[in-house]
Amino acid sequence: MDFKLSEEQLLIKEAARDFAKTELLPGVIERDEKQEFPTEQVKKMGELGFLGMMTSAEYGGSGMDTVSYVMVMEELSKVDASASVIVSVNNSLVCWGLETYGTEEQKQKYLKRLASGEIIGAFCLSEPEAGSDATSQKTTAIDKGDHYIVNGTKNWITNGNSADVYLVIAQTDPEKKHKGINALILEKGMPGFEIGPKEQKLGIRGSDTHSLIFNDVKVPKENRIGEDGFGFKFAMKTLAGGRIGIAAQALGIASGAYELAKEYSKVRKAFGTEICNHQAIAFKLADMHTQIEAARHMVLKAAWDKDNGNDYDLSGAMAKLYASQVAMDTTIEAVQIHGGNGYVKEYHVERLMRDAKITQIYEGTSEIQKIVISRSVLKD
Ligand code: CAA
Repeated sequence: MDFKLSEEQLLIKEAARDFAKTELLPGVIERDEKQEFPTEQVKKMGELGFLGMMTSAEYGGSGMDTVSYVMVMEELSKVDASASVIVSVNNSLVCWGLETYGTEEQKQKYLKRLASGEIIGAFCLSEPEAGSDATSQKTTAIDKGDHYIVNGTKNWITNGNSADVYLVIAQTDPEKKHKGINALILEKGMPGFEIGPKEQKLGIRGSDTHSLIFNDVKVPKENRIGEDGFGFKFAMKTLAGGRIGIAAQALGIASGAYELAKEYSKVRKAFGTEICNHQAIAFKLADMHTQIEAARHMVLKAAWDKDNGNDYDLSGAMAKLYASQVAMDTTIEAVQIHGGNGYVKEYHVERLMRDAKITQIYEGTSEIQKIVISRSVLKD
């Protein structure tokens, strides 16, 4: 067993850490307050190659491994989880899906621009009545020979208004249930494609979340990903990798809050000494450190599984389930360690606590991860 990271992996982690400090930290509180999308920062992340990390250079990406990707996700998420979810969706749900299952034409037309960060993408599965129950798609894509006509509504779409390219899951043949679902590439501006209102959110407020409305949108057949009826499997396969990215995001939120709490405990005094000298605080830090380290191992193991061609549905689901719980627990404790200051925006931990919650919800709630995990362990 080799726990050593390569020089290249360490360098990219360092680059992400520097970027987070110099480019994401300034203004993060204001962006959260105003629900402002980090446009400039996303542009710079594209230039650094963070938006197409696992995509091969041939298609405009950085050609790195999943281990490097999760380390970048952790570093960015320590500071700004709104920025990191943009990275996660573009990498795991959009670029990976297109490179793995798209046609050469689709890769040339869309992937190159997405992986280089020239544009960003969105993944559109959730609906008002199809969140966890993702096979119950009400959005339809009716086959009209050389094109589909798409109608319906998608909800809670990350990058909803900022994306240019949308991977939309829709039902073509309801009789075939999930085997009659397709994944289609839609472009912003297609007639009948409307962006709904922006959601007012508890956390990751800099990320741009919208509903999408489709009214008779004509989508050419060459924009279908994979064979007819492959859409649901496409979504499941893509989400399996996406969950590793969100697990890394949760890990970053937890470690960011932990680092802030540790530093604070070394300077804040109470009862005549720095609060880290009180066992009540020191033991909290011990628990946080231990849980974060365990989460990090699970995230890296899932990433390593993906890089080594192993099944990663189970390790990814476990990593997300555990890391998101650690994110929640750690951020709550980080606020507690900060006391009154923890409740104040300028200390950052209250934002991290709000941001942590979404990691237990999107890309499959914790309950969905338990379905995936229990089905996997019970099948043997
Ligand atoms: N890989 C390949 N195929 C898979 C798969 C996987 N990981 N998981 C399921 N499938 C296949 C099954 O094999 C089955 O196909 P067959 O009939 O050919 O065998 C088919 O998919 C249906 O599977 P199930 O019978 O297991 O379906 P189900 O309805 O019982 O449950 C579920 C599936 C796991 C609960 C699924 O619905 C699910 O993952 N739900 C959560 C959806 C989700 O994660 N949404 C997140 C939205 S995206 C988002 O949040 C992005 C963002 O903006 C940040």
